[in-house]
Amino acid sequence: MTDIPRVDFNGKVAFVTGAGSGVGRATALAFAKAGASVAAVDINEVALNETAAIIRDAGGKVLAITCDVTKGEQVKGALDKTIEAFGRLDAAHNNAGIEQPAQPIGDISEELWDRIISVNLKSVFLCMKYQIEIMLKQGSGAIVNTASGAGVLAIRNQSSYCASKFGVVAASKVAALEYAEKGIRVNAICPGIIDTPMISRYTNDTDEGRAFMIAQEPIGRMGRPEEIAGTVLWLCSDAAGFVTGHAMIVDGGQTAGI
Ligand code: NAI
Repeated sequence: MTDIPRVDFNGKVAFVTGAGSGVGRATALAFAKAGASVAAVDINEVALNETAAIIRDAGGKVLAITCDVTKGEQVKGALDKTIEAFGRLDAAHNNAGIEQPAQPIGDISEELWDRIISVNLKSVFLCMKYQIEIMLKQGSGAIVNTASGAGVLAIRNQSSYCASKFGVVAASKVAALEYAEKGIRVNAICPGIIDTPMISRYTNDTDEGRAFMIAQEPIGRMGRPEEIAGTVLWLCSDAAGFVTGHAMIVDGGQTAGI
């Protein structure tokens, strides 16, 4: 009988952005626990060093790289450092992102629009651009880009965030088509409401705010960052070898009725 491939990253190298907090931290930890050497990337050096310390304390291998993912030369530099330290790149989770304050489109400033698109969407382009260069030389690699339920569903007062996340889904699918023959898989993940510092900020960390978010979740609770990390690892693993160009919804049923 043929063995089913396992979610195992021993001897592999993973690159995670937004690794200082929330979903990115959980994914960096999960990759390290699954045996990968992890390049952990974030703009927030203090938070990033905390993530790196957690991984090292648990016996994992990690390189902390402070980087603004909206800047092409910094993203290229982070990937150069990854190759210098670990020699290859097998899995990438392009996940750094920021929230948009709730506002109708007519009230959004040009600066805010540019900022949201730059951090949430341009960063994914820049990361894929330089990751694919490395993966093409290897003839293999898997990329997962963090989109959102807001990448498949229009949400009132979230036009720039939705535009950025619909864009992440589109860029992921197009890249999947372009590089499928070269052994590179590209998918997006669309989380529902996940209990992270981003959601604490968005709800002003109030009971009412949290209750409002939970009310949108048929499953009756927010997701945990580890529940997104688990799906990202699966998508990057050999177990998902035939999965590419997919926007995987992991959302407690939030969008099941659409
Ligand atoms: P978070 O705010 O807890 O973590 C985001 C991390 O990204 C932070 O460590 C931050 O320093 C980093 N970051 C921000 N701008 C950066 C930049 N220019 N360069 C490098 N790093 C930067 O947020 P969370 O919740 O973990 O979100 C992660 C991703 O998941 C984001 O793309 C977000 O849009 C997406 N998402 C989150 C959901 C949620 O309910 N928490 C739902 C759906 C998607």
